[in-house]
Amino acid sequence: MADGLGIIGAGGIGRVHGQGAADAGCPAVAYCDVDLDKAREAAEPWSADAVGSVEELLDRSDISRVVVAVPNGLHMPLAIQALQAGKDVLLEKPMALNESQCAAILDAHGSSDAILQVGFVCRFAATSLLARKVIADGVLGDIYQARAVMLRRRGIPGLGRWFTTKVDSGGGVLIDLGPHLTDLVLHLMGRPTVEQVFTMTSSTFGNPPDAYKFTNMWAGPPELEGAFDVEDGASSMLRCADGVGVTIEASWASHLPDGTIGDGVTLLGTKGAMHFDIWGDHVLVGTELGGEMANAKMPVEEGEGWGTAFKREHECFARSCQARRPEGPTGGEGRQIQRVLDAMYASVETQAAVSI
Ligand SMILES: NC(=O)c1ccc[n+]([C@@H]2O[C@H](COP(=O)([O-])OP(=O)(O)OC[C@H]3O[C@@H](n4cnc5c(N)ncnc54)[C@H](O)[C@@H]3O)[C@@H](O)[C@H]2O)c1
Repeated sequence: MADGLGIIGAGGIGRVHGQGAADAGCPAVAYCDVDLDKAREAAEPWSADAVGSVEELLDRSDISRVVVAVPNGLHMPLAIQALQAGKDVLLEKPMALNESQCAAILDAHGSSDAILQVGFVCRFAATSLLARKVIADGVLGDIYQARAVMLRRRGIPGLGRWFTTKVDSGGGVLIDLGPHLTDLVLHLMGRPTVEQVFTMTSSTFGNPPDAYKFTNMWAGPPELEGAFDVEDGASSMLRCADGVGVTIEASWASHLPDGTIGDGVTLLGTKGAMHFDIWGDHVLVGTELGGEMANAKMPVEEGEGWGTAFKREHECFARSCQARRPEGPTGGEGRQIQRVLDAMYASVETQAAVSI
């Protein structure tokens, strides 16, 4: 089977994947969308094929690898369909709507050697890659406290469409941005076990839909008659093994003045501390040297930046498929994150801390 790439879902992120794959030197050979016009539009710049059904894409023998970039509720069935067709799969986040759906995907994956990579693209941001190296060098010592934040001003995606309809999305900002934040911070900390979570959510901006003011909308335009039955703000505390504390804060919308706070990660360790803006161009590290406070501003490599994250994600997927050995975020890691998300939603429901 040739190692061509197909993209299932030619919406917002499907197109970003198209660019990332091309930047990585392996442009998609075909795009698939139930809306054939969208598939055609996405395919056109790359002279790729456009198809209107998943079956047609998966039947192609020139495609061995697929990206699944469809609404959250379709992740499980389409990932399973692709794995059963013998394809390697790069599955967008969240891995599925809940942990039991992740388990069903892993069952379908079984003991096959298919590559199943989950779309935790923040791991591939230039700052995150640099942060990971600095941490591996022991600069922070033992990390005892961490925080990951994405607080948008006006960023509700697809208001009134699938993103804000719980049955299709599984939830709001928590299941949308939560996987990125939770995976990245745990990844940088060496994936400690999460033992307990306490989470609060709010829904302030999405209802009524016609009162929501915004300048642009991902996966828009808004569907004002559609549903908004999800949260648009969330804060969560995680207690990890050995009493290590992690805070996750996310909002789709707020009144924060522009530029107040970037999507960021802060890590406090026994020897040093670190902060970085995920999409920025440097990592800040503080420590003590010879009894004095010392600060370092470590730039990412020339030419690297937020725009290279999807390229790096696709390079990783291609390498894994070539070597038949998973190198990037695995299905098992996706399931771990979903277990934490399930507990977060259970905590909201019970208004109490939930043990995992
Ligand atoms: N990694 C990231 O940073 C990131 C960013 C945005 C979205 N996402 C994730 O990517 C996924 C898609 O989000 P989006 O923003 O592109 O949404 P979108 O609504 O812009 O695009 C989804 C596309 O899937 C198509 N589709 C629906 N059902 C289909 C089917 N059965 N077969 C083929 N195509 C189908 C739709 O027609 C649409 O074009 C979601 O799971 C979302 O959470 C990830």
